[in-house]
Amino acid sequence: MKTRSLLPVVLALLFGSHALAAQPAAGVVAAHPPGAAIASAHALATEAGFEVLRQGGNAFDAAVAVSAALSVVEPISSGIGGGGFFLLHDARSGKRVFVDAREVAPAAATAAVFLDADGELDRDRAQNGPWSAGIPGLPAGLVHVSRNYGRLPLSVTLAPAIRLAREGFPVYERLERGYGTRREVMERYPGTRAVFLVDGKPPKVGDILRQTDLARTLELLARDGFDGFYRGEVARKLLKGVKDEGGQWTARELAGYRVVEREPLSFDYRGLRITTAPPPSSGGVAMEQIFNIIGAWDLARLDDAQRTHLLVEAMRRAYRDRTMYLGDPDFVTIPLARLTSRDYAAGLRAGIHPQRATPSDLLPALPAPLEDEETTHFSIIDAEGNVASTTQTVNLLYGSGLVVPGTGVLLNNEMDDFALRPATPNAFGVMGYAANAPAAGKRMLSSMTPTLVESSDKVIAIGAPGGSRIITQVLLGILSYAEGLDAQAVAARPRIHHQWMPDVISAEADALDAATMTALQKMGHTVNTAERPWGNLQTVMWDRKANALSGGSDPRNPVGEARVELPPAAAQP
Ligand code: DON
Repeated sequence: MKTRSLLPVVLALLFGSHALAAQPAAGVVAAHPPGAAIASAHALATEAGFEVLRQGGNAFDAAVAVSAALSVVEPISSGIGGGGFFLLHDARSGKRVFVDAREVAPAAATAAVFLDADGELDRDRAQNGPWSAGIPGLPAGLVHVSRNYGRLPLSVTLAPAIRLAREGFPVYERLERGYGTRREVMERYPGTRAVFLVDGKPPKVGDILRQTDLARTLELLARDGFDGFYRGEVARKLLKGVKDEGGQWTARELAGYRVVEREPLSFDYRGLRITTAPPPSSGGVAMEQIFNIIGAWDLARLDDAQRTHLLVEAMRRAYRDRTMYLGDPDFVTIPLARLTSRDYAAGLRAGIHPQRATPSDLLPALPAPLEDEETTHFSIIDAEGNVASTTQTVNLLYGSGLVVPGTGVLLNNEMDDFALRPATPNAFGVMGYAANAPAAGKRMLSSMTPTLVESSDKVIAIGAPGGSRIITQVLLGILSYAEGLDAQAVAARPRIHHQWMPDVISAEADALDAATMTALQKMGHTVNTAERPWGNLQTVMWDRKANALSGGSDPRNPVGEARVELPPAAAQP
């Protein structure tokens, strides 16, 4: 799956740091990339993007193709029953836009619906089946991106996904394992059994997974746009499917779903211009806070323990504020100017002891559990310099587990991203209060952080899945680029994470050496290295000085692919 020869196209497989270059004169930065680069969590999705580029599409058409293809071949992570964020950069106009296709809460799904008889959070309801699902946003996002920024019709950009759904694709290890984890929930629903059971058995590696209903739903989306999903036949089936399983959506809620275009958050960190996700993502605000706090220190000059300590203290403070203040900006007032101000960061920095961990409960709070690793990100740069950085999700493994009969649509379980019960950790161990309480039509707070980074000579698109760990993955990815790592090394680098609560540094096995760990423990940190590796970072970079493209696909996910293609010389802009 990793190689494929292509017409007259010069192709490079980029599961390494190799970069393809077309040399500009020394000292000059190139105006256009020499070709295109795509990194996604599945080689079939990366190929779907190139297929559309070869037909004259731009990065935004490719984003639609990759997004829809991932929705088919990676149902564990995202899909048209879920939502996502597209961060787009249009090279010609310089316009940047954040396309918010996040799910919204149905009116019937009030906080009370998710409490059991004792007033505790009913986790089954919050994470499984119809009540856990928000009104999907991704189909509207695909239509919006295509109509407003693409060049090709949806019939072309959705064609690879439709083909993959109809003809099927081979099941891979992550799908099989995730199915095992979610099996009990998935098999509650006849619609889900009909799609995922192969000859009555759970899908296993090598089986071909065909989704003919999903192919038909994608065709209707291609033919009728928004109405193909949110009105008419598919909408009727969605309403009935949710109702038959005991949930409650209305036709008006479906037809009333709207994508929102938002101004991305932009800020500088040591010569890098970072453009990223605004609320209802918490990612950009938290990253900006962390960068503002650490910006005063030259991290490169510190030893590992000191550097990790300061990073963790910055993370702790940003995640605490996430809990307290962030939610859907269309519903709550977020003190954005304060949270992102350098003065506020200076105040937080002043409270950091250079040698001692600040216990999280000195910054008011409560305890929390673990996470899992789904959702998906892809990064694209085309030959004109357009960039698409997109993260999309159905939330937990296979979302709610509920496929609506006759549609192939696997519904998300994004309602768990709300603070359904105040100060009660969700599946990612993050909590919230009123700012992120559910309300009709409100978007649940997200951590998805599709990001664009620019320096004097580089353009980078980066993002990842991982729930609350998305923010720290992207942050560490940017810091790794700043240290001079290449795209593949950025994707591979071992990770650490701290989210205020639980008051623990999570560290991948190779992230910290023994001496660093001991030094951190002496400072009062608790370090946990017992978890599985996490994340699935996908990034592409255009080095404008060398005029070279490169990509990095997280080696933690063996089916991902970052690839660069150069067009034949005559076709270059
Ligand atoms: O929007 C969010 O923050 C979550 N629903 C993302 C979920 C996710 O990344 C799952 N992967 N571990």
